[in-house]
Amino acid sequence: RGRLLGSGVHEPLRRAVVEACGEPSTIVEAGAGPGWYLAGAAAAHPRAVPLAMNASVPALRRAAAIGLACVVADTWAGLPLRAGCVDALLCVFAPRNAAEFSRVLSGSGRVVVAAPTTAHLAGLRAELGLLDVADGKADRLVGQMGDAGLDRVGNRLVEFEAACTREQLRDLVDMGPNAFHEHAAPRGPRTVVVSVLVSVFARTTRHP
Ligand SMILES: C[S@@+](CC[C@H](N)C(=O)[O-])C[C@H]1O[C@@H](n2cnc3c(N)ncnc32)[C@H](O)[C@@H]1O
Repeated sequence: RGRLLGSGVHEPLRRAVVEACGEPSTIVEAGAGPGWYLAGAAAAHPRAVPLAMNASVPALRRAAAIGLACVVADTWAGLPLRAGCVDALLCVFAPRNAAEFSRVLSGSGRVVVAAPTTAHLAGLRAELGLLDVADGKADRLVGQMGDAGLDRVGNRLVEFEAACTREQLRDLVDMGPNAFHEHAAPRGPRTVVVSVLVSVFARTTRHP
């Protein structure tokens, strides 16, 4: 993951995530992995306090190595944060605990979720027999967030083609859910389609 992210393949996605953050004083990324998205948000908002959270210690060691404050936390067990203290809660390709995200969000805060669409890496998935992205994921997300008092106030489809080397193709496959499933080795170089929906959720007057 670190190698693929460092190569810049996902840079347009990171830009969109950072732009969706607004003007936060505190930025938390849940399921931050090596913290690459959070590092981008922190660089764009140097006065903000960034905090990386993840269940995996090795992943957070990488985040700490690039200067991020880190807390080991299982998103499903509850985030070890006071209620109402987070202005921007990022969740990129990671588990989403809508009730917890809502609890820790400040009054004007927002949750930024990046999740793959069915078109994400579709050509590569068809070629290698990889797992599909489930249909209706975006609607389910809106439902889960709505149950937790958060409405979708914006969304942006980030879709672009990326020319990848064979190593990048391998990394793309190995950093997703297919890492633990048997599959053919990708042939390359080739171009892939990155297709990710970046959604922004906030408390609105419907949910005061
Ligand atoms: C697909 S990776 C995404 C990492 C990072 N957001 C990125 O896009 O580079 C999912 C991350 O969520 C973490 N994760 C999985 N289950 C988790 C949980 N219950 N609580 C916190 N983190 C979790 C994994 O360790 C992994 O780092």
